Amino acid sequence: MGREVQKIKEWMFSLQGKFILVASFCILVFTLSGSFVLISREKKLYQRDMINQCKVIAEISRVTLTNVMVFNELGMMDRQDLADYLDYFIMNLMERDKRIRYAMVFDTNGAVLASSNISEHSKLYSDNSLRKALLEPKETEIVSVLFGKESTYKITVPLNIDTKRWGVIQIGISMKEMHMSISSLKKEVALLVILFSSLSLSIISVGAKILAKPVTRLTLIMDRIRDHGDLDQHEKFKFKERRDELGSLQRSFLWMTRRLKDADKEHKKTIEVLSRTEKMVSIGTLASGVAHEINNPLGGITVCFKNLMRPGMDEETKQEHVEVINESLDRIKKIVEQLLNFSKMAVTEKSPVDLNGLITRQLLLLKYYISAKNIEVVKDLSEKLSAIPLDENKMGQVVMNIMINAIQAMENGGVMTIRTMRDNGFCEIHIEDTGKGIPSDIVNNIFDPFFTTKGVGEGTGLGLSVSKGIVEQHGGIIAVESAVNIGTKFRIRLPIA
Ligand SMILES: Nc1ncnc2c1ncn2[C@@H]1O[C@H](COP(=O)(O)OP(=O)(O)OP(=O)(O)O)[C@@H](O)[C@H]1O
Ligand SMILES: [Mg+2]
Repeated sequence: MGREVQKIKEWMFSLQGKFILVASFCILVFTLSGSFVLISREKKLYQRDMINQCKVIAEISRVTLTNVMVFNELGMMDRQDLADYLDYFIMNLMERDKRIRYAMVFDTNGAVLASSNISEHSKLYSDNSLRKALLEPKETEIVSVLFGKESTYKITVPLNIDTKRWGVIQIGISMKEMHMSISSLKKEVALLVILFSSLSLSIISVGAKILAKPVTRLTLIMDRIRDHGDLDQHEKFKFKERRDELGSLQRSFLWMTRRLKDADKEHKKTIEVLSRTEKMVSIGTLASGVAHEINNPLGGITVCFKNLMRPGMDEETKQEHVEVINESLDRIKKIVEQLLNFSKMAVTEKSPVDLNGLITRQLLLLKYYISAKNIEVVKDLSEKLSAIPLDENKMGQVVMNIMINAIQAMENGGVMTIRTMRDNGFCEIHIEDTGKGIPSDIVNNIFDPFFTTKGVGEGTGLGLSVSKGIVEQHGGIIAVESAVNIGTKFRIRLPIA
């Protein structure tokens, strides 16, 4: 039921639906008002025709009966002849026109001289129109009255010549026939209205469907492009050539999709070129970093080796040279190890880890270093972080890298604050120091491999880039906020699920 209502609503708000609704409304208004005008005009014509017929009947009656009255007056007819003639006249009138319901002739006193109803003879009448016609006989009066339950025209005709009055004839003509004609006309018009409306509505519906078809197709294609992102969708549909506005809409749409396709291709190409360039730049940075880092100890080794090859070196100097070579080799080994770590970063094995425990263990490893540097550690660890899916070793490495950086940044002691917290489906680790801070011009470089501000042998510049890689492997983000001479805060956000 709900779906049906939804469908009807959708149809009503569609272009086709709106057009059909407006057209139906217009057709209804026009046909109804047209029918109303037609019927009332016909009604008036019927009434006028009927009144004219009444007037004709009235005139015939008046002429005939006044003549008879004059004959009677002149003594050419006795009273009985007059009464017989009046009865005959009424009978004849009623036979000739079946619409006549009654007819009565009154004398000047309002007494019935003759009537279509025998029982009315000699009765005295004094209704308004009769009295008016008897007292001031002027012209025929036609009024509509109810005769029984039937609408009737009551015609009152004075029988007089100038001031000479003989009486009045009253005739009732039924309006039933007129009403019947009007109601059958109404039925015919209603039938015509229904026929015309349904025919024009069907034509309009078909027309609207045909007109809306190209738009519907375009909408369908656009929807598919939106859902699948495939700009070739329009090629699966055949567009008919049209010369109207819809045709130009189709052409514009095709032009637009082609442009979009070209732009999309260009965009993909640019991204490819960019990512290739980026890769080249990273490889370049990495290579130059590695070369630089290895070159220093290698230079030392070469010098020491050359010196050792020279004869005449005393034992103590020889020992010193060997130590330098040994240290330099250690340094190279460390760099190679870090590089290997860097390349192995993608392999991450996650298991539920107690994050706070992990942090505490890393802090323990740095205990000596921290106390030697006169650093106070503040821990604010949330208790809601028991089983976070992590690669424990790698995340330990991240925490360690950031804590070592913080300790190194606080040359003259300070406070290192470590916080953990839960935020909906994420957990956060904040490591904050009160050290020297990071100048704003280099803050964007600190996550680059081999970027370091530390002296040769002090830092490789891999700590933060490795850490960033590990955090991202966990689906998290790492961010930094820093102010020179005030301190630095690293924020790690990791998903819990
Ligand atoms: N807490 C901090 N305070 C001030 N500067 C920082 C801090 N952490 C990082 N930096 C800056 O970011 C640079 C890059 O840090 P990163 O840990 O990647 O390398 P590194 O510490 O120099 O060397 P490595 O960690 O490989 O021994 C650092 O050289 C330093 O300039
Ligand atoms: Mg570091």
